[in-house]
Amino acid sequence: MSNSLFRTKNIDKILSDAATMEADAHHGGGGLSRVLTLKDLTFFGIAAIIGAGSFSSLGQAVFNGGPGVVLLFIMCAVACGFTAMCYAEFASRIPVAGSAYTYAYASFGEMFAWVIGWALIMEYSIGNIYVAFSWSDYFSSFMDRIGGHIPNYLECSYIEAKKAFIEGSANKDLVDAWNSAPVIGGLRMIVDLPALVINVLITILVYIGVKESRNFSNVMVILKLCIVALVIVVGAYYVDTANWQPANDAGIPSFMPNGFSGVMGAVSGVFFAYIGFDAISVMAEESKNPQKDLPRSMILSLVICTVVYILLTLVLTGVLNYREFDGVGDPLAKIFEVKNVGWMQFLVSIAAVVAMTSVLLVFQMGQPRIWMSMSRDGLLPPAFQKIHPKYQTPSFATIITGLLVGVPIIFTDKTFVLDFTSIATLFAFVLVCGGVLLIPRKEKTAGKFNMPYVNAKFIFPAIIFGAAAILVLYNHNYFTNLLTFSDDNMSLNVTTLLFWIISILLAIFSLFKNFSLIPLLGLTTCLYLLTGMSAENWAWFGSWLLLGLIFYFLYGYKKSKLAKN
Ligand code: ALA
Repeated sequence: MSNSLFRTKNIDKILSDAATMEADAHHGGGGLSRVLTLKDLTFFGIAAIIGAGSFSSLGQAVFNGGPGVVLLFIMCAVACGFTAMCYAEFASRIPVAGSAYTYAYASFGEMFAWVIGWALIMEYSIGNIYVAFSWSDYFSSFMDRIGGHIPNYLECSYIEAKKAFIEGSANKDLVDAWNSAPVIGGLRMIVDLPALVINVLITILVYIGVKESRNFSNVMVILKLCIVALVIVVGAYYVDTANWQPANDAGIPSFMPNGFSGVMGAVSGVFFAYIGFDAISVMAEESKNPQKDLPRSMILSLVICTVVYILLTLVLTGVLNYREFDGVGDPLAKIFEVKNVGWMQFLVSIAAVVAMTSVLLVFQMGQPRIWMSMSRDGLLPPAFQKIHPKYQTPSFATIITGLLVGVPIIFTDKTFVLDFTSIATLFAFVLVCGGVLLIPRKEKTAGKFNMPYVNAKFIFPAIIFGAAAILVLYNHNYFTNLLTFSDDNMSLNVTTLLFWIISILLAIFSLFKNFSLIPLLGLTTCLYLLTGMSAENWAWFGSWLLLGLIFYFLYGYKKSKLAKN
């Protein structure tokens, strides 16, 4: 029996356990079915990626960073690209459901694996709360357009309405929701009904089975890509290139009117738009040829979405001055509203509803599969690995996921869940990249994804020390400024300092160890994005991790299969 918190699972053991379970399950008619091809997986990726990030949070991101936010999209794409290669490397070595959780188990050990699994709840379930709220916004405005108005108190969250009322917000719909809601037992009946209903429908669909979900998802992806392409083409017609150099507060035309810190302030929203390529990895056990197709589909979907985002941001910031996106939750519809293109507003509403439905679907499928892996390892109760005999889906875990997304819809609001999701996902990405550094290198195998190995020995220190030197040349006080802490810059300065300390240590280590360059760059770029998170985000995230560790020590540590070996 191993008592170590860092007890790891051997990769060969993970594979043989999964093979035995698959054989047993099929024997008893209860296994997951291997039906997904490269095309299906790529569509799954796009289904998960393009959603609330582009249709909703992009508005506030553009307002924070101006046209320069396009740089952040490129930075996030680079970070996600390196991370996708790391996910791909793991997925080709360990093609079983469980995603980053399973990878961490093989590299960092059980406690880190648990922590990742716990953080992934934020990405998969809490992220879906944001998507459900955004879905509801677009659905309600779509209903308005076709003459089916939903009462205001049934299309927003209680917290939002209360806040708007107390602060005397200019948002009339929210204030009206508070004033017009029926009161029962002293409590105002305000609930986001469309968000709740879509969650129930998606849960049913996922419960019924992957094949049905897959067909539904593929149709939705084609539709949303067509409409997004139309937004880009029609929007391009209205672009005024002067908008790409708007005046800043001092009246000087600038691509980044709020400076680079304004751009970095948009990191939660922009990064959220990329979340999803990693969800493909949880479909390993339903994929026909996981070792080849998982890596390819991840990278393919990421490339397609990056191109879409860059074009979309250029169109948005080219059509309107960035300041016009203040508080705008439907930025794509907004540009056509201002330009008075009614038919495009209508199409955008449909595309948004469709796009977000597919995001909800993919994440709601992903969460139960991660729990299933954790349960197989003994870290969660056995019910989480129960497979429905008829539908061949993880039935109990699917229902719990539905509840985990649905219940908080009644108590939370959008902003809170967006930040929470982005920080937790970036954290998981950091650990995945770090994990690839730790697993032993393998010989190239034909027919599988092999991450290109470039020795980081001299290149990485050259990048880090070179970047530091350029920053100091550009701003002599760059590093000393980081040591001045005020309430305004506390979080940014502390995290940036930590970023530099870790990067310099990694650069020194890489002189002695033959680290692979790609995961090292993935690790550092994701760490850099984390510097944009606010102190409040870190506090919430830290508490969440603490709660997770308490659960681990009360249950998983004792019940783990590794503890019994
Ligand atoms: N990337 C997904 C979205 O934007 C989570 O909705």
